[in-house]
Amino acid sequence: MKENVDRILRELTLEEKAGLCSGSDFWHLKSVERLGLEKIMVTDGPHGLRKQDGDSDHVGLQNSVPATCFPTASATASSWDTELMNRMGKALAEECLQEEVSVILGPGANIKRSPLCGRNFEYISEDPYHTGKMAASLINGIQSLGVGTSLKHYVMNNQEARRMTIDAVVDERTQREIYLAGFEKAVKEAQPWTVMCSYNRVDGTYLSDNKRLLTEILKEEWGHTGLVVTDWGACNDRVEGIRAGLELEMPTSFGKNDQKIIDAVNGGRLDIKLLDKAVERIIKLILKSVESRKKGFSYSPDEHHELARELAGQSMVLLKNEDVLPLSKEEKIAVIGEFAEKPRYQGAGSSLINPTRLDTICGHLDDKEINYEYTKGYNINSDKPDLLLIADAKKLAASVEKVIIVAGLTDDYESEGFDRKHLGMPESHNVLIDEVLDVNPNVVIVLMNGAPVEMPWLDDTKGVLEAYLGGQAGSGAVVDILYGHVNPSGKLAETFPLKLSDTPSYQYFPGYTKSVEYREGIYVGYRYYDKAEKDVLFPFGYGLSYTKFEYSNLRINKEGVYDYDVSVDVRNSGTVAGAEVVQLYVLNPKSVIFKADKELRDFTKIYLEPGETGTVHMKLDERSFAFYNINIPGWHVEKGDYEILIGASSRDIRLSKTLKVEASSDAEIPDYSESAPTYYRPKGDIFNIEEVQFKAVLGKMLPKRESDPDDPFTENTMLGETTGKWVGRILIKLINKQVSKMIGESNGNDVDSAERMMEAVVREMPVRAFGMMGGDMVPKYFTEGVVSLLNGKTLKGIGLLLKRK
Ligand code: BGC
Repeated sequence: MKENVDRILRELTLEEKAGLCSGSDFWHLKSVERLGLEKIMVTDGPHGLRKQDGDSDHVGLQNSVPATCFPTASATASSWDTELMNRMGKALAEECLQEEVSVILGPGANIKRSPLCGRNFEYISEDPYHTGKMAASLINGIQSLGVGTSLKHYVMNNQEARRMTIDAVVDERTQREIYLAGFEKAVKEAQPWTVMCSYNRVDGTYLSDNKRLLTEILKEEWGHTGLVVTDWGACNDRVEGIRAGLELEMPTSFGKNDQKIIDAVNGGRLDIKLLDKAVERIIKLILKSVESRKKGFSYSPDEHHELARELAGQSMVLLKNEDVLPLSKEEKIAVIGEFAEKPRYQGAGSSLINPTRLDTICGHLDDKEINYEYTKGYNINSDKPDLLLIADAKKLAASVEKVIIVAGLTDDYESEGFDRKHLGMPESHNVLIDEVLDVNPNVVIVLMNGAPVEMPWLDDTKGVLEAYLGGQAGSGAVVDILYGHVNPSGKLAETFPLKLSDTPSYQYFPGYTKSVEYREGIYVGYRYYDKAEKDVLFPFGYGLSYTKFEYSNLRINKEGVYDYDVSVDVRNSGTVAGAEVVQLYVLNPKSVIFKADKELRDFTKIYLEPGETGTVHMKLDERSFAFYNINIPGWHVEKGDYEILIGASSRDIRLSKTLKVEASSDAEIPDYSESAPTYYRPKGDIFNIEEVQFKAVLGKMLPKRESDPDDPFTENTMLGETTGKWVGRILIKLINKQVSKMIGESNGNDVDSAERMMEAVVREMPVRAFGMMGGDMVPKYFTEGVVSLLNGKTLKGIGLLLKRK
């Protein structure tokens, strides 16, 4: 391949090279036929294929070909099953091969900083090790069949609010240990063919121009050999991007940015060698993709549906069970909640799949000839409790032995484009649950949601099954678990807090109009709740089974200076077969620098028959003991006694042993005990980090937080910030008209939630991105023209808008 790449690179003209650095349309890269470079297609991702044959968009408004909708990432993450992720990856790749798609845009590896992030359903975990491991397994599965992936959204894109412009202010150590570490693991273990850079800024620089993150860290330190592609419309300054290590801009810039690259090379402002480096990686991607095509390949939608059901069954988390589950076929049950016939099984936005089939709970109960009656209980489209529906539900509930209520979050609550405002479920769901509990004590709640919710009724219910967004076959998996055909084995990959104000980023999320300060630092998820000794609703790593597991015989064998094999015996001491997720945490010794109490360093899942004992092996290496020392800068193991903890959850530690570990460096360890003492003792009701303490850890001044009314408009002004000007108002009106038309014509979207999502997407889109994403209808010098008009330069603005060349 090398010779071929070199030859093509030699023969390409400057214009062709510049052209290859952006797409030809929404989903395709450009071709150069005379040199044998064919057009390849890339498309969403991450838990199914969203291939649009007709009109295109980046938020799931318009139709796509049928594809298997697998459970979303917050569900599959809870399986903790890397082998299953690999199989899901292979199935996704098969669908890509049939549809002639070369790269699927996923997985998403952003850390769940706050449970409010609207896209958390697409993300894996609050823990970077877990994120990296699960992402790597999925990527390896997909790429093993010659289909590429796009590890996204790199990086520190942990909220939807102002996602296209916000500046994430995160100290270096937190970046390395929390937000980058999952990406790092996935890159090193799986080499994704592409990494997608996010819309936001970090340290003031848009990711698409961020040399430190794209070149120094991703390419040079981690050795990424694939290419960086922008999120759709995320390219800020195309020439700066080439210098920073951004190879591919998507979708197309309609030739505008290609010209900027050409001008910069001709004008001596861009070294052609840098352009060649970028083009080389693009050529490699195209050749590799074309080579892996399998003309005429087809997959079996039925087999993939079954795999989706297996995945969902392995992922759902049994949160509570007071002898109420599994159900028996003889019991007469009531099934209440409209989700039982219209399941919520995926989230809104760019990941929206047009499923090949869709299971329902009622449909599966019918197939199994279960003795049940169903009533709606609430209307999916309304948060207001419907008293008539509730009265029907109570009457039915009073007449049966056990009640299953299917509740959760609707599309209005979780979506790409906006964040949640609170952790509550719709009032119509909560009131229904309360009322039904008044007439029947044997109630099991099945939750369909993409992220944690508050459960005010928890104490009074006997069972809770977190079904997450289980994909097209999720309802079948719910029935499998309710009736004990599948023994639940999922464990939470995120903490369920008691209330929003307990969450570590509560005070700082989603930040200001310009920036968001990650003042909680490394204390994300259980790292915070444990250190602050806070009660939670359900801890990280938690999940019940219909059987019991006993742990014994912890052995730690040294294999290298920092390398250890850690093994444990696990016995299934119950009466049914089941699988257990065994977790290995390292408890850090007291240190000069503040640290989380314990951190996940490995895990494994083992399946055991009743009475069977199995041995699991896990690994420790240098990174397991290290923290990121900004003085080196690099990873640093401190000398000390580290406790090795084996847990069934982060708060259910079954075995432990202490290891004496030597230092890896004698570098000075940063001491913030005087300048930032709260990080050493994060206790109290609210995690309150004063500005001076955050600055001490950050080591620099804080950037501007709010927009200033006197600031001139720029190409990065969000459309929503232009409404004080006539041109802004007209523009938004025109865009909204077009968007409503698209929503009206689309299938599979709930109109109200699609409108809500689009309202946010349009409001927060920078003028520049619209200029790129607006398609042919947008004049060539749209961005420059609109910015001039906004700044009161009317003649210049009109001139630019009318200019053709
Ligand atoms: C999303 C990406 C997605 C892209 C293409 C963007 O809005 O952030 O995750 O892959 O659109 O649809």
